[in-house]
Amino acid sequence: NSVRSLYMEINVQRIDIFDVSADLLVLGAYQGISHPFDEIDRKFDGEISKIAARSGFDGKHGQTLLFPTFGKISAKNVAIVGLGERKSFTADSARKIGGLIVKIAKSHRAATVATAIPGFDLKGIDFRNTAQAFAEGVFLSAYRFHVYHGTLKKKEKPPRELKSVIVCERGARQAVSAEQGIKQAEVLSRATNYARDLVNTPSSEMTPARMAEEAKSLAGKGIRVKIMDAKEMERRGMYAALAVARGSAHSPVGVHLSYHPTGAKKTVAIVGKAVTFDSGGLSLKPAKSMESMKIDMAGAASVLGLFRAIAELRPSVAVHGIFLAVENMPSGSAYRPGDVVRAMNGTTIEVLNTDAEGRVTLADALSYAQTLKPDMIVDLATLTGACVVALGNDVAALLANDAKLSKRLMSAATESGEPLWELPLYEQYNEQIKSKIADIKNTGEGSAGTITAALFLKHFVDETPWAHLDIAGPSYVERETRPDQPYGGSGYGVRLLARFLQGF
Ligand code: BES
Ligand code: MN
Ligand code: ZN
Repeated sequence: NSVRSLYMEINVQRIDIFDVSADLLVLGAYQGISHPFDEIDRKFDGEISKIAARSGFDGKHGQTLLFPTFGKISAKNVAIVGLGERKSFTADSARKIGGLIVKIAKSHRAATVATAIPGFDLKGIDFRNTAQAFAEGVFLSAYRFHVYHGTLKKKEKPPRELKSVIVCERGARQAVSAEQGIKQAEVLSRATNYARDLVNTPSSEMTPARMAEEAKSLAGKGIRVKIMDAKEMERRGMYAALAVARGSAHSPVGVHLSYHPTGAKKTVAIVGKAVTFDSGGLSLKPAKSMESMKIDMAGAASVLGLFRAIAELRPSVAVHGIFLAVENMPSGSAYRPGDVVRAMNGTTIEVLNTDAEGRVTLADALSYAQTLKPDMIVDLATLTGACVVALGNDVAALLANDAKLSKRLMSAATESGEPLWELPLYEQYNEQIKSKIADIKNTGEGSAGTITAALFLKHFVDETPWAHLDIAGPSYVERETRPDQPYGGSGYGVRLLARFLQGF
């Protein structure tokens, strides 16, 4: 099974948009602008504004108007896309338009599309950033995971795929910025799509050992990879993660990636949850809840995607990437409700529900990260169903012990277009995870499940600035709500954390 990433290219050409030969020409029109079609109207003897008026097209964001050109211009078809109101146009609008273009191209079997970057005409726009967002929209929408289509699908004619987007830009300075933004988007989208592939690959293949193999494939280009087998994990006292892994036929594996550029002033540790399948263990999940649990390593997948991006972007901060890959299964050797396990930092955990396994494995992963003495720690985990109840399928939760760190992550999330919202690390709820026989227990009392899970993790990070991202909602797209987030693993966090690291 091959890992797919990008199928297409985006090129900038210093050419007039009406002179490009392409299957499809995409033009943008803002809402409420009096003569949005003047230029194209001139080529079509005023017919376009008539068609627009008849069909009720008024430039609302995402609206489209499609017509053939009958040879009047070089492109075969034209799509006019609504950009929404001028004053509310943001980089994320450009990202959505990029995704929409891919959708239109697919449904009209266009292999080449010519367009201009939406928003480049606006005053005070950051060209590079807008171009990057637009290109991310294109690259991320084009992703499909169809590695497993068998003979039935193979007999069908493969769809004509979008191969190339030509960005027409006459301005020299704008063209250079556009190229830089597109390059950046290409690196980040490839990394994101790689994370998506890892999440989408079934647990029968994406085992702890396979996750270690994936990490090893990233070694080189300034990235070092250290693998810990079960023996070494035991030697280091990672009894909590080992307990979770005990019910599975697959041995656990510890992974430590690192990147140390010369002159780095700060070190960040990024920790990912890496449960390759979460059956719930002896506290077995109902069948429905188990269907999607191959995604329970999405945090670690984003760590791997991030390192793929780091190798290209070379930020000036040192980075550790850490995950302990385990499978949570019920069996005669599985850990049990009532067991007490000791984590690497000495904290003892009473396990009351074996399905609250993420925090138990992260106890050791965070303890390990702490021994590296980083300046800050960020973890990503598909940790709680409660987070999906609180914030839904699009928004991840942020809980942090440091306001400066949470602010940086919030602004990185806004820039990358990955929705994030802060919840309080409300200390009083520590009452909920007090154990009568151990330091803490692994479940709360039923309310504020995302907060009590984060408070549990806090026991493993000392005073180091730390932030926890609960990505249970957005790590996986069940129902598509925007084109740049297609069905399956989303790669949530790759672009957010890359932006965060580039801020050092
Ligand atoms: N991996 C799940 C959380 C999850 C749920 C992720 C839905 C993505 C979608 C986690 O290990 C889990 O099972 N959490 C339990 C904790 C509970 C037993 C305290 C949950 O949220 O129900
Ligand atoms: Mn679980
Ligand atoms: Zn889990």
